[in-house]
Amino acid sequence: MNATAETAPVLASAPDATLGYKSFTLGSFKFRRDEYFAHIEWTTRDGRPLSHTMDAGSYLRALMRDVAWGFFYGWVNFDHVIGTVNHYQTVDFFAGSYNATMKAAGVDLLENFPTAQIGETFKAMLDDWTNEGFDPFAAPQETGSPYGRKNGNSRAAITRARELATRCVGLKGDLALRTDARGAPVNRAFADVPQDLPELHPEPGFENEVHAFNLFAFLSRSQVTWNPSFTSVVKHSYMCPTTEEHILPIVHGNDRVEWFFQMCDEIHWDCAHKESGKPLARVIMKAGDMAAMPAYCRHQGYSPKRSMLLVWENGSPTLVYEIQKGEAPEVPVQF
Ligand code: PHB
Ligand code: FE
Repeated sequence: MNATAETAPVLASAPDATLGYKSFTLGSFKFRRDEYFAHIEWTTRDGRPLSHTMDAGSYLRALMRDVAWGFFYGWVNFDHVIGTVNHYQTVDFFAGSYNATMKAAGVDLLENFPTAQIGETFKAMLDDWTNEGFDPFAAPQETGSPYGRKNGNSRAAITRARELATRCVGLKGDLALRTDARGAPVNRAFADVPQDLPELHPEPGFENEVHAFNLFAFLSRSQVTWNPSFTSVVKHSYMCPTTEEHILPIVHGNDRVEWFFQMCDEIHWDCAHKESGKPLARVIMKAGDMAAMPAYCRHQGYSPKRSMLLVWENGSPTLVYEIQKGEAPEVPVQF
């Protein structure tokens, strides 16, 4: 403590008010931020006060994904302590519940909320805690700082809407999505990606039925990282390519099998058991490699250089319950 703090009780006793950030509650969890950190406070299952601290930038990057993805498939771990579980009508927020050590010590807590309630709280927190100049979707080298006192807002970055195609991308009538990603510049890491378009020779009369576009050129212009988009949807088979740089801001715990195809460069994955966090595997994926993540794992990727990844999801709304009942496998293949 320094002299200024001792002689300035207002500053010392009400730091949050001075810093300008709102505090939030969700059930019995409390959330506050200061210049560097997000703090989460709760009373443990066995009645003791406990708190957890995360770097503000890491916290906001995770919060951004949870909000934008509508709580995603299964578990969105913000780190090894806190996160959410999607039950598709309701969502759990937990602290320590999927950390074997905290669970054994009885210091965890999990509460369930209607999706709308936790969604609104998270949106308001993201809005209030994200400063001007910080884009939680951008690679760290391509954005400003998340730190410091409250400074404006970053609403344009945190409310980016997905561009929805109304029919096959690029065909007449699809007004939403253009093959050049609306003229966005090619990312510095993808300067060598050819931008030419495929040749098309549809039979006369089929010009409005047949189309192709250069997916690599499209991805080379992506402004965001770790944000899979749907480029093809065939029944429940979703092809979700994405551009990755630095660290996947969440540790995803699967409720189904998920496939990765590394389309260029490389990503290093840490895989662990989704219930306990016990490490299971390191997976080094290089261009051309494919891997499947079983439904019992959690995983986090590290992309040293901006890379292109195709995430292949089975979006069946009944799959998670089929796996729970043992009717569908937790693994992609049995050897
Ligand atoms: C995943 O959790 O599997 C995941 C999420 C976002 C990405 C890539 C992979 O961009
Ligand atoms: Fe995943």
